[in-house]
Amino acid sequence: MELLPAYDCHCHILPGLDDGAADLEESLFLCRWLVGKGYLEAVCTSHSTFLYRNTEEGVAKAVAELQRELDARDIPLRLIPSLEYRLVPQTWPRERLLPWKGNHVLVELSLRTPEKMLPLVPEEEIRGLVEAGYQPVLAHPERYLWATPEDYDRWRDAGALFQRNLGSLEGFYGAPAQLRARYLKEKGYYSFLGTDLHNRRYAEAFDGL
Ligand SMILES: [Fe+2]
Repeated sequence: MELLPAYDCHCHILPGLDDGAADLEESLFLCRWLVGKGYLEAVCTSHSTFLYRNTEEGVAKAVAELQRELDARDIPLRLIPSLEYRLVPQTWPRERLLPWKGNHVLVELSLRTPEKMLPLVPEEEIRGLVEAGYQPVLAHPERYLWATPEDYDRWRDAGALFQRNLGSLEGFYGAPAQLRARYLKEKGYYSFLGTDLHNRRYAEAFDGL
């Protein structure tokens, strides 16, 4: 496995909030796995999507509760509450945001159909976040299979930093995403590496990298 950063900026380890950890037992397994890989901190980025309408308050409460469980078991991982904000008009935040490490905000674009984002335009929303004092971080741009090289340039030039998923380079998300991850890495687009850890299956696959 490649050299990992000191903190994970993207994971779904809070129990029962989205399609990540199902319950406390799975959350604890994933937290122990992160500690085993050397992580000191994890930014808990539960989904904010049409399907999973998590709130800043809900995530903060869930983080406090899971942190208590970790502390009680001497699992040395510090949790940081945030969200993975998908750019869809139904849930895209206009004002209330929960940034990590100062002003960073994880933004996810539509994975397969860019029309789902309309009337929102990614580069305009990225620029708006920057103007509001935030640092937008694009979650796994290698997974946006509809994006053109010009799209990637537009988002970067608008002020977004790029976050690659662990496993993308090795094909965990399929060959098309793997090719894009290679392209973006070779061209120097990436600033962050995140696990996007959801469940045991992810952890076991990453162990095999
Ligand atoms: Fe995610």
